[in-house]
Amino acid sequence: MTDPKKKLNKKTVENYEGGNIKDPAIKGDSSVQSPKTRTDIPLTNIENDPNKDIINNTTVVKEDHNKESDEVFTDYYKDKEVLLEVKNLDVTFTNGKRKFRAIKDVSFKIFKGETFSLVGESGSGKTTIGRAIIRLNQTSNGEIIFKGKKINGKMTKEDEHELVRHMQMIFQDPAASLNERANIDYCIGEGIDNFKLYANMEEREEKVNKVLEQVGLLPEHKSRYPHEFSGGQRQRVGIARAIVMEPDFIIADEPISALDVSIRAQVLNLLNKFQEERGLTYLFIAYDLSVVRYFSDRIAVIHHGQIVEIAETDELFAYPLHSYTRSLLQSVPIPDPRIEKAKKVIKYVEERPIDAEGIALREIVPGHFVFSTEADVNFYREKREKMKMDRESVKKDLSNLNK
Ligand SMILES: Nc1ncnc2c1ncn2[C@@H]1O[C@H](COP(=O)(O)OP(=O)(O)OP(=O)(O)O)[C@@H](O)[C@H]1O
Ligand SMILES: [Mg+2]
Repeated sequence: MTDPKKKLNKKTVENYEGGNIKDPAIKGDSSVQSPKTRTDIPLTNIENDPNKDIINNTTVVKEDHNKESDEVFTDYYKDKEVLLEVKNLDVTFTNGKRKFRAIKDVSFKIFKGETFSLVGESGSGKTTIGRAIIRLNQTSNGEIIFKGKKINGKMTKEDEHELVRHMQMIFQDPAASLNERANIDYCIGEGIDNFKLYANMEEREEKVNKVLEQVGLLPEHKSRYPHEFSGGQRQRVGIARAIVMEPDFIIADEPISALDVSIRAQVLNLLNKFQEERGLTYLFIAYDLSVVRYFSDRIAVIHHGQIVEIAETDELFAYPLHSYTRSLLQSVPIPDPRIEKAKKVIKYVEERPIDAEGIALREIVPGHFVFSTEADVNFYREKREKMKMDRESVKKDLSNLNK
């Protein structure tokens, strides 16, 4: 098994400044290398790469593309321990006779210790997936497997109880997720009370005080009620509630969007710290790619309830293959006026039909999946090659300019 703390391509949140990106590698500063895990992303010094051995031993795996979309992962990730697997998930909402299939045949795996981000525009189904994992939304098809056990559909009360202990969600809307009639001490301590995760009341108080301090709140806040807090403070209470349970897996549904810019980096660093200390695994939900860039190991892009692309973070930013991913990426600001000026507005047009027969997530290069038909796999491979060449020529131009 791999060390859960060994990240696929961890970056610090120091590079995240409320939406502005400071990536020296993008600016063409060759003295600073972005950590990468792939052999074929330019700007990478493989010799210095901690995953050098993995890279050198990785060969392009010939995929059997007739397989079901739940079999999308090749040997590239064979050493990773899967904590959560979502297989062919469907969520359908029914309102009288009307049915709405919000999630359509979604499959992905999350490895232990990683941050897996789910990114897509409003209404794409991100929260619905999170809620289905935590059993708040019923699933209409597919399986959700956590630590090797199926957790959707029928479960015994004991198993369900046990699941709450290991899996927590930080909700998108901090105002709606806290019990308005309970004070903060109750809101935060509720989980540890239910599971008796302390030996005595002193230990309980200690735990609650510690987590309050960790999220930047004060012990005197304990007697207050949620409505007496600002949105950002309520979000911190939501984080404290989840963290105090010491879970293995946290679904963080846009945990910083209700916060003001000045404390966003602080909260991200906090989540990062918990991950490093406890080997936590995150499913991080966001609508904006720039937010997730500096702390995600892998990113899945979702559009209209379907995952259109999954790749490691650097790979996705270097080679966004699906046109929807590219349209999302153009909103990411790059702090170099030359690059910003040269940016072209990409209007999202479906390059390939999304309901084509046999369409599924297919591996274009190891670890990089695009929602495509078998016939389109080569189209995407060629596109990636072309992007690689373009990137190299931009890099050359920039280094000439800097001379
Ligand atoms: N309980 C429900 N009943 C009916 N439709 C629902 C329900 N919950 C969500 N939906 C619909 O499912 C779709 C996905 O919603 P979801 O909340 O998952 O989007 P999201 O990606 O989280 O968006 P946002 O970024 O705005 O939070 C939307 O069209 C929404 O209207
Ligand atoms: Mg949502």
